[in-house]
Amino acid sequence: MLWTFFGRFHPATVHFPIAMLSVAALVEFLQIIRRRPGLAPATFTLTLVGLVSAVLATLMGIANAGGKHHHDLIETHRWAGIVTTVAAAAAMALVFKARAGQGAIVNAARGSIFLAMILVSVTGHWGGAITLPGYYDVWSKVEVLQKPSEGPVDFIRDIAPIIQASCFSCHGGDKSGKNGKGGLLLTTKALAMKGGDGGACIVPGKPGDSSFYTLLIAKNPKERMPDKAKPLPPEQIDKVYRWIEKGALWPDGFEFKK
Ligand code: HEC
Repeated sequence: MLWTFFGRFHPATVHFPIAMLSVAALVEFLQIIRRRPGLAPATFTLTLVGLVSAVLATLMGIANAGGKHHHDLIETHRWAGIVTTVAAAAAMALVFKARAGQGAIVNAARGSIFLAMILVSVTGHWGGAITLPGYYDVWSKVEVLQKPSEGPVDFIRDIAPIIQASCFSCHGGDKSGKNGKGGLLLTTKALAMKGGDGGACIVPGKPGDSSFYTLLIAKNPKERMPDKAKPLPPEQIDKVYRWIEKGALWPDGFEFKK
C-alpha cells in the first residue's frame, strides 16, 4: 500500500535527476569552453542531488510499474533507469575524486556527467512515451496501447470484423476454402484453434504465447501480420489482446460472410 503510494510520485520526481544532471553537464560544458582546468564549484552538489534523486526516482518507478501492460517498453524503461542510476553513481564517484584535481580525472568526471545526462534524457523520453494512452513503439514501428483497455470484448462484434477485413484475404482460403497462407485458415473456430504450419496460434488466456496476437506487434515488418499491410490500429490490437486473454471465446457455429 505504502509502496504503491510511494510509486505515484515517480512522474513528478523524475524531473529532478533530469534537471540536475543537465545543469551539471551545462556547467561543465561552460568550464570546458572557458578552458577552466578544474570542475565548477556547483558540480559536486548538482551531481550529488542528481544521483540521490535518480535513486529515488528509480525506486518509485519500480513501485509504480506494477500491473499489466502490453509491451516491453516498461521493461526497457526500467532497465534504462537502473543503468542511468549506475552511471550517475559512477559520475558522482569521479566528481568526488576530481573535485580538487586537474587533468585526466577532471576529463573523466566531465565525460561521465555527459554520459549520465544523455542516459537520463533517453530514459525520460521513453518514460514520457509510457504515459501516453497509445504510444508509437520505435522498435516495432507499431502503435500500441500502453495498458489494456477495459470492458468486455465480444467475438462477433469486435474480433470477427477485424479478421474479415484484415486477415481473411490470406487466411480465408481459396475458392475450395483451403490453402490459407502459412497453413492457417481462420474460417471456422476449429481451424483457427488448430493453427497453421507453426501449430496453435491462439492460446486462450495467454496472448503473449499466441502468434495471432504477437505477430500483430512483431518488430520485423516481414513477420508482422497483416502481411504486406500497415499494422492494425492500436484499438484493434488491444481488442485481440483482451479477447485472447479472456479465453478467446468463439461462438460455435459462427460463420464468416464470403
Ligand atoms: C497479405 C496476406 C496476409 C494477410 C492479410 C494476413 N496474413 Fe497472416 N500470414 C500470411 C503469410 C504469407 C503467412 C506465412 C508466413 C510465414 O510462414 O513466414 C502468415 C502466417 C500467419 C500466422 C502464423 C501461422 C503459422 O502457424 O505459421 C498467423 C498467426 C497469422 N498469419 C495471423 C494473421 C492475422 C491475425 C491476420 C490479420 C490481422 C493476418 N495473418 C493477415 C499472409 C497474410
